[in-house]
Amino acid sequence: MSVVEETFGALQAPIADFSEELSGLAGIYQDDVNLMVWQRDLESDTEQAVAALLQAGQNFSLNQIVTPENVTQSLELGLPATEGREALIRDIALLVDAYCCLFDLDTTGLRLTQVDRAMCPRFHVDQVPCRLITTYQGPATQWLEEQHLNRQKLGRGSNGQPDSSSGLIKADADIQQISVGDVALLKGERWEGNEGCGIVHRSPGVENGQYRLLLTLDMA
Ligand SMILES: [Fe+2]
Repeated sequence: MSVVEETFGALQAPIADFSEELSGLAGIYQDDVNLMVWQRDLESDTEQAVAALLQAGQNFSLNQIVTPENVTQSLELGLPATEGREALIRDIALLVDAYCCLFDLDTTGLRLTQVDRAMCPRFHVDQVPCRLITTYQGPATQWLEEQHLNRQKLGRGSNGQPDSSSGLIKADADIQQISVGDVALLKGERWEGNEGCGIVHRSPGVENGQYRLLLTLDMA
C-alpha cells in the first residue's frame, strides 16, 4: 500500500465506464474502472444468424483455445451449419482479435454456449484477471455499482441467505444490466492491483423456453 493510500484510505471506489467505440475498451486499463462496456447494436445479419443457431436446438457449448488467426476456421468446424452463420463467426472473430490485441495475447479461451438457465445465479466476483462477455440473444449479465452493494455479504458472508435478503444489495432497483450485443470487459480479482475490487455480477434469470447465446473470452 502506498503512503497516500495509508493516509487517505483506498484511492477511489471502482467504477463502470461506457463507450460507443470498440477502441473504448482500452478504458479497462484505468485503475479505477472494473467494468468497461462497448455499447453497440448488433448487425441485423448477426441477429439473424444467432436466431437460426438457437432455433436449431442443438444445445451446443463450444470450449476452445483459439488465436485470431484460427478462430474463423475453429468456429466453422465447431458450430452447427445453420443459415447465415458467417455473420456471427465474423463478429466473434472481431472480438477475439480485439481481446488478444488489448491484452497482448497469442491465444484466448473461447466459450460459446447456448444457455437455458442461470449459470451463476448469485452475485459474485470472478477469480480471473479480465473476462470478456457478450450476450448475443436473451437477457444479459447483471451487475452492481459499488455504492449500491456491501461486499462483505458476498459468498460465505451471505450466511446462506439469498441475494435479495442477505444485505448484499440495498434494493432490487439498483441492479444494473448490460444490453444484448454490448461487449463487456469484467475486471476480476486476479487483475494486478484489483484484489477486493472485482466487478460484482451474476447471470440473469432465464424464463422457461427462453434461450441465451453467451460468448466469453478468457486469458488462456
Ligand atoms: Fe462471473
